[in-house]
Amino acid sequence: MRWRSLFWDGDALCVLDQTRLPHHAHTLRLADWQSVVQAIRDLRVRGAPAIGAAGAYALALAAREFSADPDRFWPRLREAAAVIRSARPTAVNLSWATDRALRAAEVATDPQQAAVRVLEEAHRIVEEDERTCRALAEAGAREMRDGERVLTLCNTGSLATLGVGTALGIVRVAWELGKRVHVYVCETRPLLQGSRLTAWELLQAGIPFHVVVDSAAGWLMARGLVDRVVVGADRVAANGDVANKIGTYTLAVLARRHDIPFWVAAPLSTVDLDTPAGSAIRVEQRAPEEVTHLGGVPVAPEGTPALNDAFDVAPAELVDALVTEAGLVRPPFGPALRALKQGVPA
Ligand code: MRU
Repeated sequence: MRWRSLFWDGDALCVLDQTRLPHHAHTLRLADWQSVVQAIRDLRVRGAPAIGAAGAYALALAAREFSADPDRFWPRLREAAAVIRSARPTAVNLSWATDRALRAAEVATDPQQAAVRVLEEAHRIVEEDERTCRALAEAGAREMRDGERVLTLCNTGSLATLGVGTALGIVRVAWELGKRVHVYVCETRPLLQGSRLTAWELLQAGIPFHVVVDSAAGWLMARGLVDRVVVGADRVAANGDVANKIGTYTLAVLARRHDIPFWVAAPLSTVDLDTPAGSAIRVEQRAPEEVTHLGGVPVAPEGTPALNDAFDVAPAELVDALVTEAGLVRPPFGPALRALKQGVPA
């Protein structure tokens, strides 16, 4: 793999523009914090762990800019943190990483030092995610059998993280371990993260797969073609309810109907103990044009109203296992998640 979802070039944040994939692998250089916020909103950088790291770098760029005016440094930095956090509300990694970076600044003695500390914290978040993905992916891959056919949604690979990925990372590591896997990739309307991004990653890795339309999932299960469903998460509530890309709830219900294991792969940084249950999770609503248009071309009559919830919530009772860097967590999730989170930076 010769690319990364994002990296710091010594002076600015560089992100692989995911809106242009799979046709163009174009790297954007973002030298101010507002451009990073815009790139997060526009899904140029996307996936919970990747937007978390991008948020921390956005704060680092803000701190560098504001340190030129020490008197107004702290109110401006806190305001910027609030804007960054709200760029996408569902993925908890964004507020988790931004808050971590802000706390790193707050122990500094002056704005210059604060700016250095925020940047160092952003680098640490990247390094940690790389290690976390690997541990999580290995834990999941060990449990998979040779020859499994896995159905997945959206993109949860290296594009969505700073490492090997979460749900797709499990598939990739299983493949590296010599297990034969076949992946059914839901195309993931409306923005096609499955057919554009996951297919792009799987082709490069040489892992066999088919892209399927989202509505084919139930029929594939009924035909006996799916051994496991593995998806990622944007936020896991304290009780194990899972917010993830729209369509996740449907897959969870279908998997239960067909007695197929339903796994959610997520680092512990995606577990939010402050959110007791899925009903308290704010689901991001995006522009109706993402539904009524495909690549800018209208696919509905002009004036068509559309609902565009970007995520849904699968209740914990439909989740067979949460795959984390600390291993597989089985129901009941609440006590296990509380215990595991104790060792994770808040
Ligand atoms: O809207 P997106 O593309 O950012 O949605 C991403 C997902 O839903 C992923 O499943 C989730 O962020 C986990 S990525 C490892």
